[in-house]
Parts: sequence; structure tokens; C-alpha cells
Amino acid sequence: MSTIIEFRNIKKAYEDKVILDNFNLSVTKGDFVTIVGSSGCGKTTILKMINGLIEPTEGEILINNENIIGKDMIQLRRNIGYAIQGSVLFPHMTIDQNISYVPNLLNKSDKQRTKAAVSKWMQIVGLDEEMKERYPDELSGGQQQRVGIARALAASPEILLMDEPFGSVDEITRNQLQIELRRIYEKTKITVLFVTHDISEALKLGTKVIVMDKGVIQQYASPQEILNNPATEFVKQLVNNQLLACQPVNL
Ligand SMILES: Nc1ncnc2c1ncn2[C@@H]1O[C@H](COP(=O)(O)OP(=O)(O)O)[C@@H](O)[C@H]1O
Ligand SMILES: [Mg+2]
Repeated sequence: MSTIIEFRNIKKAYEDKVILDNFNLSVTKGDFVTIVGSSGCGKTTILKMINGLIEPTEGEILINNENIIGKDMIQLRRNIGYAIQGSVLFPHMTIDQNISYVPNLLNKSDKQRTKAAVSKWMQIVGLDEEMKERYPDELSGGQQQRVGIARALAASPEILLMDEPFGSVDEITRNQLQIELRRIYEKTKITVLFVTHDISEALKLGTKVIVMDKGVIQQYASPQEILNNPATEFVKQLVNNQLLACQPVNL
């Protein structure tokens, strides 16, 4: 399989504070990569460098073998969906208008095509058609999150970036969204980069898992490999804590 995203010797520093140094990463097209690590280790920085919201201090980022630094980011972002935690929907637009925002820009003259795309994605993420005319504040948090995912996918991007997208919803809704996201992935085989601070979520969703600590990749492997052969003490601790959390409590 071909490489879709590549970081080459990336450095990111804010004045003398170094966040990433000599950072290398290669993502294979069609993988669902989860990135897990403690708060502040650089996860969001990595995602935002892929869609040009943050520029590296040094190094190259290649998407489909093309260095994106200094490129037209508007063009680039059309090919990259981005979903983040909490509602980022336009509050004054209906659900329909929110989801059709990007498709409308792409197929200006073909309204029918946009309409079909909105229906299709609403159905895929599990939203009733009758919600189309509602406004974001007339939906629950979980439903708003689904709209966010539908909106990110409606432009049919090649890459989907998700930054702790299920961080603010309750446990049951999170479970449902995880299952649906995995189903969407199986169906579309889109390349996904999904950031979380929750190791169980990372192991459950990813075909590949990146464990990070303080800007350094500790391990980049399949969930099975991470569980069976943790590469460093940090990974071992993380996995053990996760296994402990799954043990029944003896009262
Ligand atoms: N604009 C900024 N100026 C200075 N430091 C920043 C800035 N943005 C992020 N950082 C720092 O970079 C580090 C990594 O941030 P981030 O990638 O958001 O972490 P994560 O998403 O893993 O929690 C943190 O220590 C954060 O404080
Ligand atoms: Mg973050």
C-alpha cells in the first residue's frame, strides 16, 4: 500500500520551547491510525500540521508525495476532513446548511448532487432526515457530533482528521459513535487519523496505534502488537493500567 502522509525530520518549537524534534511519521493509505498520549504531548500539533493550521519550524510534510509547505492550503483542505471535540457547527445555520456547506462550494451548479450527498451522509452517521431543518442547539450533544462527522465527510475527503471528537459525549453515545465511525471507515476505506488520550479508545478503533510521550513516538503498531509486545516502559504502563481498568472490582 502507498504512503499518503509523511513527516520528514519535523521540528516544531515556540521560541525556545521545543514540542517536536526530528519527528518522522509515515501513514499508509487506508489505515485508521489512532494517536494516543498524555495531554500536551503534541497530538493536536501533529494533526494541525497536516491541514496547514500549524506550520512546522523545520522539515517537510508530504501528502501523496507532494510537499505541502507553502502550498495552497484552501485546495489542500478540501481533500481533508477535520472534526474536533465539542460542537463546531455554524449555530445560525440549519443541519442541512451545515452539512452542505462544503459540497455547495465544490458543486456550485449541481444542487441535486449536494442534496443527495447530505441525505446520504445523514443516513450513514445515523441522523433522521427530519432533523435537516433544525438548528444545532435543537440537537443533543451526541447528535451534534454526528452532524460534525457528516459535515467532515460530505466533501468526500481522502483523509479524515479527528481530534478527540468524542471527548464531550456520555459513555453510551461514545460507544455508538465509535461503532459507527468504524463502520464508516470499513465502508469508505478513507485514511483516518484519530487523536485521543484514552488508550482503550485507541486500541478499539485503530488498525494502527501510535503511542506518544512528550513529542516522541514510543510505538507505532497494530493494537494486537501493542498489547502483546509493548515497546517501552511507557507503553507497558499504559497497557497495564488499561487492563487493570477492565478487571471487575472486588467488593
Ligand atoms: N501557540 C502556542 N504557543 C506556545 N506553546 C504552544 C502553543 N500551542 C501549543 N503549545 C504547546 O505545545 C504543546 C503540545 O500541544 P498540543 O499539540 O496541543 O498537545 P496535545 O494535543 O497532545 O494535548 C503543549 O505543551 C502546548 O502547551
Ligand atoms: Mg489536543
